[in-house]
Amino acid sequence: MGNKNNGKFIVFEGIDGSGKSTQIKKISKRLKTFDYKVYSTFEPTDGPIGSLIRQMLSGKVSTDQRTIASLFAADRTDHLMNKVSGIRHKVDQGEIVLCDRYYFSSYAYHAQYIDMDWVIHANSLNAEILRPDVTIFIDVDPKVCFERIKSSRSSFEMYEKIDIMKKVRDNYFKAFDALNDLEKIIIIDGNNTMEMVEDAILNEVKKIFKIE
Ligand code: TYD
Repeated sequence: MGNKNNGKFIVFEGIDGSGKSTQIKKISKRLKTFDYKVYSTFEPTDGPIGSLIRQMLSGKVSTDQRTIASLFAADRTDHLMNKVSGIRHKVDQGEIVLCDRYYFSSYAYHAQYIDMDWVIHANSLNAEILRPDVTIFIDVDPKVCFERIKSSRSSFEMYEKIDIMKKVRDNYFKAFDALNDLEKIIIIDGNNTMEMVEDAILNEVKKIFKIE
């Protein structure tokens, strides 16, 4: 078993509907059975900057894509540095932090509208503060994701949405390629059953903690 005083920062990424939040809950439970102290969190945060971002995403507050990308970077810095619940502090205290989205979400989502290098640059301070020990990308076919999250949309909107999901997925892979030397990325096939995906993630996580 690994050193339990050794904090870790594990990020989960994927397009909407890829099952990140379900898997985080499952992995958190499994890690707790090995006596690790686990803290699960997410971005955008539920803090003041995150709330403003959610208002912008819902269209309640209008904005420009550069503004929103900058706000996501600022929300992330607060998420890292907050004195009580900040990720940096938790990891330093030896906790395992599981985070639903981090800077790769920014690279994948905002590069639909603005230059990816600009977004990477805007997040360089965050990368300096804390790079994930590992980023786990749950790779699910955009069509499957859409089926999971669809509600009463028209078919026109359906194609539009699948098209966006494909672009975001492509951008994730572009970012993984561009930052391959700096980041540890694990791609998990998320098209299988939730249980199979959980086992695949747990196998990878066990390797990180050297759990037999
Ligand atoms: P998500 O966690 O998927 O949504 P919820 O839990 O509210 O269903 O995140 C909300 C949206 O924010 C999602 O579509 C992706 C987007 N996003 C960005 O555009 N940039 C970012 O940096 C992050 C973290 C998320």
